[in-house]
Amino acid sequence: MSSALGAGRNGHPFSLDESDDEGAGAGAPGSGGGGAAGEVGVAGAGPSLDGAPHATSVRSVAAIVACRAVPVIARHGSVRALMALIAIIPGDGIGPEVMLHATRALEHYRDDRKLPLELWQLDLGADRFLKDGTTFPKEDAARIQKDASAVLLGALGDPRVPGLEYARDILFGLRFGLDLYANMRPVKALADRLVPLKDRTAKDVDFVVFRENTEGIYVNIGGQFKKGTPDEVAINEDVNTRKGVERLIRAGFDYAKKHGKKTVHMADKSNAMKHAHELWYRCFFEVAKEYPDISAKHVYVDALCLYLVQDPRPFEVVVTNNLFGDIVTDLGAGLQGGLGMAASANVHYSDPKRVALFEPVHGSAPPLVGKDLANPIASFLTVGMMLAHLGWPAEEKRVEDICTRAIESGNCTPDVGGKLGTNAVAEWILGELRRSA
Ligand code: IPM
Ligand code: MG
Repeated sequence: MSSALGAGRNGHPFSLDESDDEGAGAGAPGSGGGGAAGEVGVAGAGPSLDGAPHATSVRSVAAIVACRAVPVIARHGSVRALMALIAIIPGDGIGPEVMLHATRALEHYRDDRKLPLELWQLDLGADRFLKDGTTFPKEDAARIQKDASAVLLGALGDPRVPGLEYARDILFGLRFGLDLYANMRPVKALADRLVPLKDRTAKDVDFVVFRENTEGIYVNIGGQFKKGTPDEVAINEDVNTRKGVERLIRAGFDYAKKHGKKTVHMADKSNAMKHAHELWYRCFFEVAKEYPDISAKHVYVDALCLYLVQDPRPFEVVVTNNLFGDIVTDLGAGLQGGLGMAASANVHYSDPKRVALFEPVHGSAPPLVGKDLANPIASFLTVGMMLAHLGWPAEEKRVEDICTRAIESGNCTPDVGGKLGTNAVAEWILGELRRSA
C-alpha cells in the first residue's frame, strides 16, 4: 500500500465527501474525486443468524441476502441472548443529528415492538480523533467482527481534519475489512414531485445500483513522485480482480432473479479502459449465461449518465465498479429527490451471515450542522434496509411507507419541499411509526 493517502476530494479537502458541502438536500450536485483506502481493520465473518424471509421491495436489497433474522448462537461456542447487536457510529457533521433519530427508531423497535436488538453507540469520528488520536480501535473492530449483526454509520468528514485519516480507517476499515463487496444503493423516488425530470414521475425511478465496494481505485495503490515540482506525477491504480468483478456481477444477477427483474445493465468504460473493463465486459456476459431469463445489457458509463436523465425507466439493476458506482449513485440520488433521500447497504452478498454496514449516502454536510436542516429520511430508510437485512423486511416497508407519507403531507425538510426542521420531521415519522399497527 502506498503511504500517500490523498488529500481529500478535489476542491473540498475538508470533507470526505464532496457532497457534504451541499448537504443532504434535493438536487445536491454529485461527488468529485476519489477517496483513498485506509488500512483494513477487521476481517472475517460475523455471528450466525438464521431465517430471514425474503422481501420484494426494491429497497429490500438486503433482505434478499439476509438470513440474520433470528440470532441464535454466537460464535466461539457461547450462547448469546437472542440479540442482534447493532453498532452505531453517528460520526461527524449532521451524522449525529440524523443518527439520534435513527437510534430512537431502533429503540422503538427494541422497546415497543420487542425486536431482539442491542444497541451499541461508538464514539468515533473527528471529535474523538482530535481528542486522543483514535481512528478505529482494534477492539471495536474485533467486537464488530465477532459479535455485531450490523453497523449503522451516520457520516464522516470534518473541516478540522483535512487529512481524513480517521475517516478512512473507519469507512474503508469496515467496507474492505469486512469484505462488504456489494454496495447496494436503491434509487427509488417516493413521490412525483421529487423527480426532477420532465414528464417523469416516481414510478419511473426505481432501480438499484450494485457498486463494487472493495476494489477499483479505492484500494489506494499508487503514489506521488516529484511532488510539488513542475514534473510531478500522481498515480492511483485501478485494481480489478476476476474474483471481485465476478462476484459483484453475480450478486446483481442474483438480486434481479430473486426480485423478478428482467434486465441487468453493466456500466463500464471498456472503450477507453481496455484492460480493466474488458475484464468487466467478459465477466458480465459469462455470468449472464447462468441467468438465461434475465436480459444482460452493456452500457458505457457516460452513456448511462445520459440515459438516466433522459429516461430512467429501462433500468432495474445496474452493476458497476467502485468509482462509477459512487458517481452514478449521486446522480441517482438526484433522481430520487437528493442525497437526503438516498440509503445504502454494504454487504457480503454471498454470505448474509456476515456483519453488514448501513449508511445514508449523504455525507457530513458541514454547512448544515447545527441548523436543524438535515433531512433525516435517508437515515430512516437506511434503518429500514438494515431491519430487512436482519430479517424483518416488513419493517422496511413500514418505514418506507411512513417516509413516503411524510413527503406527501409536507412533513419534511426544505430540500424536499417542506418547511420543517430535522427534529420536527423525525418527531412526525417516529410518531407515525409508534402509531402504526
Ligand atoms: C460514498 C462516499 C464515499 C465514497 C466517500 C465519502 C469516500 O462518496 O459512500 O458514496 O466515495 O465511497
Ligand atoms: Mg459518494
